[in-house]
Amino acid sequence: MSVASDSLEPEQVRTMFDRIAPVYDQMNRLMTGGLDRRWRDATARRVVQPGDTVLDAACGTGDLALADLRAGAARVVGVDFSEQMLERAARKSSAIEWVQGDLCKLSFADGSFQAVTIGFGLRNVADREGALRELRRVLAPGGRLGILEITRVRGPLAPFFRIWFEGLVPLVGKLLPGGSAYAYLPASVRRFPAPRELAAQIAQAGFGDVRYRLLAGGIMALHVGVAR
Ligand SMILES: C[S@@+](CC[C@H](N)C(=O)[O-])C[C@H]1O[C@@H](n2cnc3c(N)ncnc32)[C@H](O)[C@@H]1O
Repeated sequence: MSVASDSLEPEQVRTMFDRIAPVYDQMNRLMTGGLDRRWRDATARRVVQPGDTVLDAACGTGDLALADLRAGAARVVGVDFSEQMLERAARKSSAIEWVQGDLCKLSFADGSFQAVTIGFGLRNVADREGALRELRRVLAPGGRLGILEITRVRGPLAPFFRIWFEGLVPLVGKLLPGGSAYAYLPASVRRFPAPRELAAQIAQAGFGDVRYRLLAGGIMALHVGVAR
């Protein structure tokens, strides 16, 4: 899950994730009661078809890339610019190609992938529109994009979400080494576009049939689109 403010420079984001890498997986389990694995599987199942070549952008410690593999991908490439996050990913699977790089400047040829997933990553990218265009570029026409992100809860659950997310999560983060960066999490969610607005940005980047669905009582949004 994401911790950065989108006002940070890419280099600051990279350094921050290098610092929190040792506690990242534990924090995910703690913050979600273990449900994060279910959301990643739902994302992968929605966009990956058996035999696909899949890119997991901003792969971090690799859990969504592993979900892509479970969903039947033949080949999965995980890209992230944080060396420490990637090092943890590499310990989890040697069946996935782990590549260090910036998702806004990918080294892959146009149309290299049938599906692209990105989980809790887009919120940390300052140039969101550029990132979406780059993900579109590496997808083959007809390829599928799946974006899993935390979103602002509206409605009756909103006060509970605020206590959990703006109070408890940063507090628990402070108790873990390197976890103080979790103080950035609520601000980054506040700055991220609402689901409908994000859907419009995805369409603008060259995707058709853009849809989204809210998960976990509206805490998460899963956006999908098809490369035109
Ligand atoms: C919150 S983690 C998400 C990790 C993983 N996708 C997951 O589901 O847990 C966000 C990741 O995005 C990476 N990241 C942020 N901006 C990036 C960029 N421009 N290029 C590559 N990786 C980036 C960070 O290094 C970090 O590992």
